Amino acid sequence: MNILSGKRALVIGAGSGIGAATAKLFAAEGAAVAVADIDEAGLAATVAAIGNIGNAGNTRKPPSFRMDITDAAQVHATMDAAAKALGGLDIVLNTPFIDGHPDLLGLTEKQFRREFDVLGSGTLYTFQPRTASVCVPCSRVSR
Ligand SMILES: NC(=O)c1ccc[n+]([C@@H]2O[C@H](COP(=O)([O-])OP(=O)(O)OC[C@H]3O[C@@H](n4cnc5c(N)ncnc54)[C@H](O)[C@@H]3O)[C@@H](O)[C@H]2O)c1
Repeated sequence: MNILSGKRALVIGAGSGIGAATAKLFAAEGAAVAVADIDEAGLAATVAAIGNIGNAGNTRKPPSFRMDITDAAQVHATMDAAAKALGGLDIVLNTPFIDGHPDLLGLTEKQFRREFDVLGSGTLYTFQPRTASVCVPCSRVSR
């Protein structure tokens, strides 16, 4: 039996790297998966790859959402839409971070603030689901 059979997962940052690999692994392990990222081309590649996995628990064409994790309204709208599409969420995985700056000390203030916004604000927003059908520890889902 696949270890994620019956589970419903939203993977944010699924357009590349850890998020893309994890979204595919979740689908291969039987989860129904929704994917989100700021990068539409990356998202499309992950959706296509998951569609080819053909697992019983897999949504053949995963719900896919272009979103910016630094925008609370977009994060909450994505979580609501993913939960609606999959009938709830058991897992929300948040992977985005930007670290493509080899010269750390050469970061501009704008780049520095953007990095922390992606990491800090994005993490906070994903822990503030607005619907009771999203199961996240510590969430105050009664709002
Ligand atoms: N890959 C590894 O082996 C590894 C190991 C340890 C730590 N990390 C760290 O984990 C983080 C993620 O690694 P990765 O390899 O998956 O990186 P990645 O760059 O391949 O993927 C990050 C994804 O996040 C998305 N993203 C960026 N900003 C976003 C935003 N504002 N809203 C929504 N999506 C956004 C990108 O479009 C991209 O698809 C990095 O900080 C990396 O340093 C990676």
